[in-house]
Amino acid sequence: MQFAPTEEQLLVQRTARDFAERVLAPKAAARDVSGAFPEAELRELGRLGLLGVNVPEELGGAGAGVVAYSLALQELARIDASVAVSVSVTNMVAELITTQASPEIAKKWVPRLVSGDLIAGAFGLSEPEAGSDAGAMRTQAVKTSTGWRLTGTKQWITSGDRAGVIVVWATSGEPSAKHAGMSAFLVPGGAKGLSVSRLEEKMGLHGSSTAQLVLDGVEVPDDAVLGAVGKGFALAMMALDGGRIGIASQAVGIARGALEAAVRYATERQTFGQAIIKHQAVGNMLADAATWLEAAYLMTLRAAATKENKQPFSQHAAMAKLFATEHAWKICDIALQVHGGYGYVRDFPVERALRDVRVTRIYEGTSEIQRIVIARNLLRGQS
Ligand code: CAA
Repeated sequence: MQFAPTEEQLLVQRTARDFAERVLAPKAAARDVSGAFPEAELRELGRLGLLGVNVPEELGGAGAGVVAYSLALQELARIDASVAVSVSVTNMVAELITTQASPEIAKKWVPRLVSGDLIAGAFGLSEPEAGSDAGAMRTQAVKTSTGWRLTGTKQWITSGDRAGVIVVWATSGEPSAKHAGMSAFLVPGGAKGLSVSRLEEKMGLHGSSTAQLVLDGVEVPDDAVLGAVGKGFALAMMALDGGRIGIASQAVGIARGALEAAVRYATERQTFGQAIIKHQAVGNMLADAATWLEAAYLMTLRAAATKENKQPFSQHAAMAKLFATEHAWKICDIALQVHGGYGYVRDFPVERALRDVRVTRIYEGTSEIQRIVIARNLLRGQS
């Protein structure tokens, strides 16, 4: 059993850390206030190989694997969680196209996506009436002589208004067909009939855009189908298994940033004649937070390594996401509490961390959905 990252994994991690501290840190708080989208930053991350960390080099990716991807995402989230979520979804979409499109289509889209040329990728699964129950989606795919016509509304789409390519799920069956009728389609950003009907005003992640998209008869060719027609639901689940490692990594990164800030503050801040970290009440909170963070980090890397080793990883990913996001929320709350009143104002980074981390318990499958996945796997005898 190895607990240390390899040289290559450390190199990717260092690259992400350097970029986060040098480029993201100076403007992260300002982006949170203005809501500016980090377009230039995403393009630069593409040049560094961080939009396709687990994508083969032949397609322009870094080919560095899932553990390296997790470590990189943690570093970005430690400084700017908004950038991290755009990077996470883009990596997920790039992997999906790499593994599920024909070689020609993969060659057409993946290099442009992972180089930052397309800015970002988006994952169009959820709908206004189909979030946790993804199988309840209504977006229709109608067969035409040259391909498919897509009509419907997609909700909560990260980078939906900015993405150069969007994977859209739609059903060509009756509503009663549920999973059986679903397929995944590649839709170029700016396609005719595709429009942004709403941009969400969120509690956190202000530097990431979240769009509602309307597809009004968007035409795509036959080779825009990812995987097999009618097998899209399982594809979405497989992609989300990997995506959940990304969100667990994001949560670990946000929590690490908040905990570091809290330890720094508690070491400098004096009350009753000593640094507050020496007060048992404060020290105990930080000790719990550090312990949870270590557990979340190890579970997340275990899930990443399992995926990298091509072993079944759905259960590890669900457990890592559940544990990491629930505890990252508690860690950020402790970090804010340790700062006292200063934690509640924008002069310190922990209030942003607490707002940003909240959604990790919701997107890419709520904590309640992770428990469903875990319990169903237990029923099947998988521990
Ligand atoms: N891998 C492969 N196949 C899978 C699978 C997996 N992990 N999980 C399920 N499947 C297959 C099943 O084997 C089954 O196949 P058959 O029909 O051939 O038997 C089929 O999918 C249906 O499975 P279920 O009966 O288990 O499906 P369900 O309707 O009960 O739903 C669920 C299961 C786990 C609750 C699922 O609906 C789910 O994960 N919901 C949450 C959706 C979600 O995470 N949305 C996030 C949106 S994306 C986002 O947030 C991105 C962003 O922008 C940040």
